[in-house]
Amino acid sequence: MPRPAFEGHLKTMIIAIDGPAAAGKGTLARRLAAHFGLNYLDTGGLYRLVGWTVVRSGGDPADPASATAAARALDPAALADGRLLADPALRAEGAGQAASKVAAIGTVREALLDFQRAFADRDPGAVLDGRDIGTVVCPGADAKLFVTASVECRAARRLKELLDKGEQAIGERVLEEMRERDARDRARSVAPLVPAADAVVLDTTELDADAVFAKAVAIISGRRPASL
Ligand code: DC
Repeated sequence: MPRPAFEGHLKTMIIAIDGPAAAGKGTLARRLAAHFGLNYLDTGGLYRLVGWTVVRSGGDPADPASATAAARALDPAALADGRLLADPALRAEGAGQAASKVAAIGTVREALLDFQRAFADRDPGAVLDGRDIGTVVCPGADAKLFVTASVECRAARRLKELLDKGEQAIGERVLEEMRERDARDRARSVAPLVPAADAVVLDTTELDADAVFAKAVAIISGRRPASL
């Protein structure tokens, strides 16, 4: 598929990993980046950072003016260094909910687009995970995976993650929040969560991380497993 007209694409390899919350995208994307020797960007972290910045300053993440100002104020050099996105506060469910709200605002998405494309364009290429990588950010990516799992399975994984971190969490509440976030991410008018037409859908409900990784490597290497 021909790549769209943004620069530097001929020498890099780009892998787009999209899908709903807690489907295993992050774990998979990190492993793929290490395996293929590529850079890695967790684009959800960008939206979490914007959402959390607004909440921390007492604002409403659903307010377009505050959210857009926070997105435009991000310094690309500071972001590229990776430390900003490593803040553990960004992993909490509150930051996830705030992220999902700012992510529904078109001007926030626009403000984050150049950084994501520039990151993807750097040698030797990158694995990006998010919701709209294969559809909007890198429509010409070399490989596109849409990683998903049932909402019950994703909520159970998220609950385990929270309990393992020593956080208090109730299964029913985690499931409810997961459904809420899914609905918001899928229903928004700008860059909604949908698989790209040329993405391979990988359902991880019955798979462990190693099996997901093996399938993904096979798909990317052009050896599509018979069971898909
Ligand atoms: O992947 P995550 O759970 O860290 O993402 C947090 C929120 O950010 C998610 O609910 C939707 C939004 N998001 C997005 O809209 N587009 C992306 N490329 C990545 C995340």
